[in-house]
Amino acid sequence: MTPNKPETNTEDPARIAGFEARIAAGETIEPKDWMPERYRRQLVRMMSQHAHSEVVGMLPEGNWITRAPTLRRKMSLLAKVQDEAGHGLYIYCGTETLGVDRHELIQQLLNGTAKYSSIFNYPTLSWADIGAIGWLVDGAAIVNQTMLAKASYGPYARAMVRICKEENFHKRQGYEIMATLSAGTPAQKRMAQDALDRWWWPSLMMFGPHDTDSPNSDELLRWGVKRKSNDELRQRFINLTVAQAKAIDLVIPDPQLAFDEKTQNWLIGPIDWDEFWRVVRGNGPCNQERLAARRQAHDDGEWVRVAAAAYAAKQARAESTSEAA
Ligand SMILES: [Fe+2]
Ligand SMILES: [Fe+2]
Repeated sequence: MTPNKPETNTEDPARIAGFEARIAAGETIEPKDWMPERYRRQLVRMMSQHAHSEVVGMLPEGNWITRAPTLRRKMSLLAKVQDEAGHGLYIYCGTETLGVDRHELIQQLLNGTAKYSSIFNYPTLSWADIGAIGWLVDGAAIVNQTMLAKASYGPYARAMVRICKEENFHKRQGYEIMATLSAGTPAQKRMAQDALDRWWWPSLMMFGPHDTDSPNSDELLRWGVKRKSNDELRQRFINLTVAQAKAIDLVIPDPQLAFDEKTQNWLIGPIDWDEFWRVVRGNGPCNQERLAARRQAHDDGEWVRVAAAAYAAKQARAESTSEAA
């Protein structure tokens, strides 16, 4: 049964007005509540993209587990990558409360029709990239997800509260890697600066296009799925991160970076939106590689799914026999 797929002829304006009034009053929408079909679809799109991002996000970092420089670093990175798998599963479960099947969502990822965060289509070239990802990518995710923890859809908001706690650990381990490298030998410091140079702009792109070019934003804000716009969140991230870079003596790679006394914001130079769209459309440095790795992992895991389904069927048979007895 799919309780959230509305019956026909239910999208009358009065019902939508009632729904919007609930959101305006700060109420949470729960799986069994009525919701406009478009709200449901937007949430499925956002939540499944988010779940895919958690899962694909394991690839650039998993790649470094065997090459982490110390046992402590290896343990932290291993724990982080496992956390991301958990985030993916948790959000897939949340998405299923909207009446979609997880296998359908995963098929969309594997056949390339679903998107995931473009940041994971960049390569991890050095150990410092693991630091930069934790600091910047997980840092940007926290800014975004802290806002989503107040989203109007209950299962998504609650998932975010828990996930943000783990993201904080991810960010700290990344920042600590960067701080250590920056205070190390000249070669280590160069490695840290090089990672910041490569990850800074893509991490700013994680917040999506400018508000003026973001077609879904108005509706998502009105429905309380998003609580702040892309540009507001990006600005918050910039303001936090500039100070953190200074604290560990690294330079933000933006000659136009300037503090604006009036707004108390750090203003940046132009973002290369051509690059952003190139990567979104599948032509980033690692798009092909990431999808190929996911497809391979999916194929390799086929026997596990078959075995789990056979076991579940066996259990169900055993239960029905004992009930009948
Ligand atoms: Fe995560
Ligand atoms: Fe994370």
